[in-house]
Amino acid sequence: MGKRVAVVTGGTRGIGAAISIGLKNAGYKVAANFAGNTEAAQKFAEETGINVYQWNVSRLDESLEGVKRVERDLGAVDILVNNAGVTRDGAFHKMTESDWDAVVSINLRSCFTMCKAVIDGMRARNFGRIVNISSINGLAGQFGQTNYAAAKAGMIGFTKALALEGASKGITVNAIAPGYINTDMVAAIKPEVLKTIVDKIPVGRLGEAAEIAAMVEYLVGEKAGFVTGATFNINGGQYRQ
Ligand code: CAA
Repeated sequence: MGKRVAVVTGGTRGIGAAISIGLKNAGYKVAANFAGNTEAAQKFAEETGINVYQWNVSRLDESLEGVKRVERDLGAVDILVNNAGVTRDGAFHKMTESDWDAVVSINLRSCFTMCKAVIDGMRARNFGRIVNISSINGLAGQFGQTNYAAAKAGMIGFTKALALEGASKGITVNAIAPGYINTDMVAAIKPEVLKTIVDKIPVGRLGEAAEIAAMVEYLVGEKAGFVTGATFNINGGQYRQ
């Protein structure tokens, strides 16, 4: 069997970059998708040798076309990591329609568009690995994140339902719910607010992106075929359920 091909959305920065690098080092052919930050993506491609592809994962047409480009370059996609995500934090009474729509489309609608792009091939080949990167805040809720918490909770329901459909076809679908990880997204929180959050993490620090990537590497492997429909908390003990 040749090297399996993995697509990582939002795969050039933050948690996604660590996942792309981890999968490359584990022997996969990796395509890292990005949406807007071309400079960061080019730098990432030069530093890692990983192919980068620009498209907007909230759009079905762009996602179908993007995955076709990846398949022309690297081969059929057996592994999909739905990692692309954004925040537009603010109390609900101040939240605009565009804050809601951007977060729900980029975090949740993208699971629909990207899975559409790969599911027929996975079903035909009787193998697939889908990992959806949710969040602690989809489970616990968070002040200022009605949009994000709704989208991230939605990803967990999506995961459980698609896991049932994929089970007889060798396709596993799992979610990871990271806590607060040392990335640009978390660095954007006001320092005084972030301090109150870190104070509540029993392990006493932010997580590292590589600590999420390690779980992805396990879930996409050949040996994880019995693991499906699950959600894995990686949050330093901050939320337990
Ligand atoms: N709990 C209770 N009250 C809070 C609060 C909280 N966490 N945060 C703010 N408030 C209060 C304020 O004190 C203020 O009260 P007063 O009106 O009496 O002064 C009121 O709520 C409104 O505050 P703001 O005007 O500052 O509210 P805002 O709409 O501008 O939003 C916020 C505040 C930016 C959302 C801020 O609360 C915040 O940054 N919270 C953290 C959000 C967060 O954790 N985001 C995670 C981003 S990273 C990520 O999402 C990755 C992941 O998956 C974990």
